[in-house]
Amino acid sequence: MAASTSRFDPLTDIPDLHGRVAIVTGANAGIGLYTVYFLAKRGAKVYLGARSEAKAQAAIARLREEGLGEDEGELVWLDIDLSDPRKAKQAARWFMEREVRLDILGDPTSSHISPYLFTKTLLPVLRRTALQPDSDVRIVNLTSVLHRWAKKPRYDSLEAFNQDFGTSANAEFNLYGYTKLANILWTSKLQRLFDMEKCPIITVAVHPGKVLSEGNVRTLMRLPMGRAWVWAASQFFLTSAEGAYTSIFAAASPMVKERPEEYKGKYMVPFGRIETPSIYAQSDALAEDLWQTTEQVIADFGFDS
Ligand SMILES: *[C@@H]1O[C@H](CO)[C@@H](O)[C@H](O)[C@H]1NC(C)=O
Repeated sequence: MAASTSRFDPLTDIPDLHGRVAIVTGANAGIGLYTVYFLAKRGAKVYLGARSEAKAQAAIARLREEGLGEDEGELVWLDIDLSDPRKAKQAARWFMEREVRLDILGDPTSSHISPYLFTKTLLPVLRRTALQPDSDVRIVNLTSVLHRWAKKPRYDSLEAFNQDFGTSANAEFNLYGYTKLANILWTSKLQRLFDMEKCPIITVAVHPGKVLSEGNVRTLMRLPMGRAWVWAASQFFLTSAEGAYTSIFAAASPMVKERPEEYKGKYMVPFGRIETPSIYAQSDALAEDLWQTTEQVIADFGFDS
């Protein structure tokens, strides 16, 4: 495990989380995995979203290898397939049959409709938890500084959603930016809903920093002198564990609860700093379009029944 690179150290700055329940989707590698690590280390019961039990068990084994310590919270596999909206919804229902509370929902995935349905289905249990004494409910959505790449974004129709970005590298960046912009817009919209209901849930969109993922390492290793490339890259990039610092700050730092007005619905960068996102990410109109179109798509495809 890498040494702490900031004043924020998840190993010491996160309060005891016994009695809290968390879900992390996409938990079998990278930032998701290490987010689970820090939560479980402080005693939270964590549901790890993964597509197969084998993947979840392998993740749990890796976490134990890192050393979860004697406070280790319970780790449970959440059977979720985020390529299928219906299954995403089923997973949320399954969870709600087993648990009466949900304190932390973390979402490092990149698609839109399935995570939308998943989160939406969980809203009742999140709201109920927020009414409990001493509750501190947070929703963390992973975004990226690359949301700034989205050029002339539109979310006002299904066509806009599915727009053909082509296949050039530039187009791929644009698509990525578009998705990451959606994460920020969604976060701010969701926060406005909670605020209107006077519900104390806090939502945050997190840019984890530039992380050298395991996938990146594998790609570099395939190059001539792969090892040297990996070493060079590691001088500029964060490890996956460090990549989880900002998520864990958003999910569990007491500072966020102490100063909600500073953090609610905001865009957070390493390590726990609030930054102003792109001009599009601040647009209420775009957030509204995204919301309405998503609702429409879900209704049209009958996913909500
Ligand atoms: C994250 O943002 C996406 C919108 O791009 C949304 O569908 C998803 O539900 C969000 N996840 C959480 C946990 O709020």
